Amino acid sequence: MSSIYGVVGFPLEHSLSPVMHNAAIKHLGLEAEYKTFEIDPAEPEALANFCYESDLNQIAGFSVTMPYKQQIMDYMDHYDPLAKIVGSVNTVVNEDSMLIGHNTDAAGAMQALQEKTKVPGLRALVLGAGGAARAIAYSLNEFGADVFVFNRTFEKAEELAAEFKLEPIEHRQIAPMKFHIIVNATPVGSGALNESLLSADQIQSNSVVMDIVTQPLETKLLQTAKEKGAQIITGERMLLHQAVGQFELWFDQKAPMDVMEQALYKALESRGESR
Ligand code: ATR
Repeated sequence: MSSIYGVVGFPLEHSLSPVMHNAAIKHLGLEAEYKTFEIDPAEPEALANFCYESDLNQIAGFSVTMPYKQQIMDYMDHYDPLAKIVGSVNTVVNEDSMLIGHNTDAAGAMQALQEKTKVPGLRALVLGAGGAARAIAYSLNEFGADVFVFNRTFEKAEELAAEFKLEPIEHRQIAPMKFHIIVNATPVGSGALNESLLSADQIQSNSVVMDIVTQPLETKLLQTAKEKGAQIITGERMLLHQAVGQFELWFDQKAPMDVMEQALYKALESRGESR
């Protein structure tokens, strides 16, 4: 019988996870299917029920996306240490009826960054202090970068920085710091939030600027960075790498990354986004 996987979140109509995972499943000839499980945040019990009933519905594992990456932790039987430290779960494995929470966002972000830059010893700026920012700031620090955190609500930047022994930074202090690595880990730049948290004078020509936003791929921040001559990394790179990490946790074998990448870019093209 086919095992069922899927993504839990809201809204999911633009989710790119099904095309990547189903392409990999098909390529390897696995008896599995990856679906979408849209859970309305207006129904308070829905997430808990989904988790409690996952066995009943033969769900072998699932991805977790906005807005549930933190909330889902309440329903896990165990976490991996990284998910616990970062405080966010994006991957769940159903192991003999025990739900195990993992975080592949942190490694995914680092793999995306390392396609364009080395990390150790470089000065890095993380924009945001939410779940995604926590994962990225933590891993940048683990990889040996000198990490600063900027956030609209400064107290949250201070809290995050204190927890991971990083530095909070105010907007006016950013330009003189000449950051080499800059990562936007907020939704600013997506959809209606069509703006950039940084201006051109806060980016260097030798900076590497990554955005986690995937709609659009080329956000205002990345456009500004490009104009400045900086290297840019669009949001689908992290999306791809975190999905590869998920697939390997569920199926315990190497994911066919090329196949997943092709499926991702095909879906993006049909959405009018090109590389
Ligand atoms: P996620 O788990 O996806 O990271 P989150 O925990 O809700 O989402 O965090 C969102 C982050 O984006 C926060 O750092 C938030 O800043 P605040 O702490 O000040 O709320 C940031 N953010 C969201 N909308 C923003 C906006 N319009 N301008 C600046 N920052 C914004």
